[in-house]
Amino acid sequence: MQAFLLCALRSAVVALAAVLIHLVASPADAWQTRPSMQAKPNSSDALYGASKKYEGSSEYVHLKYNMGPVLSSNITVHVIWYGTWQLPQQSIILDFIGSISAASVSRPSVAGWWSIVRKYTDMTGQNVSGTVQLGKQFNDIHYSHGKSLTRVSIQSVIKTAVTARWRPLPVDQNGGVYLVLTADDVYVQDFCSVCGFHYFTFPSIVGSVLPYAWIGNSKKLCPRTCAYPFAVPDYIPGLKPLKSPNGDAAVDGMVSVIAHEMAEMATDPLANAWFAGNEPSSPVEIADLCQGIYGTGGGGSYTGQMLVGKDGATYNMNGYRRRFLVQWVWNHLVSYCSGPNAVDQFS
Ligand SMILES: *[C@@H]1O[C@H](CO)[C@@H](O)[C@H](O)[C@H]1NC(C)=O
Ligand SMILES: *[C@@H]1O[C@H](CO)[C@@H](O)[C@H](O)[C@H]1NC(C)=O
Ligand SMILES: *[C@@H]1O[C@H](CO)[C@@H](O)[C@H](O)[C@H]1NC(C)=O
Repeated sequence: MQAFLLCALRSAVVALAAVLIHLVASPADAWQTRPSMQAKPNSSDALYGASKKYEGSSEYVHLKYNMGPVLSSNITVHVIWYGTWQLPQQSIILDFIGSISAASVSRPSVAGWWSIVRKYTDMTGQNVSGTVQLGKQFNDIHYSHGKSLTRVSIQSVIKTAVTARWRPLPVDQNGGVYLVLTADDVYVQDFCSVCGFHYFTFPSIVGSVLPYAWIGNSKKLCPRTCAYPFAVPDYIPGLKPLKSPNGDAAVDGMVSVIAHEMAEMATDPLANAWFAGNEPSSPVEIADLCQGIYGTGGGGSYTGQMLVGKDGATYNMNGYRRRFLVQWVWNHLVSYCSGPNAVDQFS
């Protein structure tokens, strides 16, 4: 619960983010649950609402480049489906991955969102790659490491996938990233106070250094925090869950967490490139800064302006054959959170 209380506090006093970051910072690189609070009259929202350009902008945020690499070669996403997954669930997630570099999708597009991530460079001036493709998939249907995983055992799950006798995943050290996606009956250490995290594998466990992320299906454990705003926490009375764009609130919510971790893996794959804060053990990365912000005016307790389809579903960007709701990311060139559905980009 502590994380939730602190997060609510952060929502209320966003301008003090730099100070509070030290209080709420989670180990390494975690997606911290931070549902936005419902706007209340005379809350800090009303104050920040006065500035249309709010969207997380703050003179207190000092995102720094720490000389490490970014993912500048073509990125290949290898997926490990841990536990029991249904095809319709998988296709929502695979369509999102396939949309990251899909051209000729009507705006606002997932590729438009990734173009903000591409604005980050390494010390040689190379940008994050604009090519993100789906690699191989591995089905760990028998829960090789059980239904309760520690953070470190996620690396063992990857080891199992790359050393499997039947269709192992490749050890892809040239732009490969690994997503470990756990089914809704799997608990992972700290799940619900975080909804996902990214890091890199250790040679002692996996044999190589590979960027990876874990994201869990929160359906049974904590959709109200990890699938927000398609499910709403009890401590926000009177707020109705929004209708999700692909008919599966937990998986539609997972998409935004996957996006969060993809953006951070691309800009900080070895935890030594782009982050804010003075503690390398608790970096605040480009998506951490914009949690809960999905549109223009977002910040504090307000999600920002989103789109509502004819079917009543809420989303903020188009993929190549589906719509998605994805949080914004920090744009270091302008020092605020940005997304493809920003109102001023249509003018
Ligand atoms: C908001 O603040 C103003 C001025 O401080 C006060 O007059 C008003 O009653 C407050 N409204 C609410 C709903 O608290
Ligand atoms: C690469 O990054 C630079 C510096 O942020 C930016 O100006 C440029 O637009 C980026 N290039 C692409 C293709 O996004
Ligand atoms: C990277 O992807 C582009 C397509 O976006 C392709 O043309 C190019 O050959 C790829 N490069 C490598 C090294 O695979």
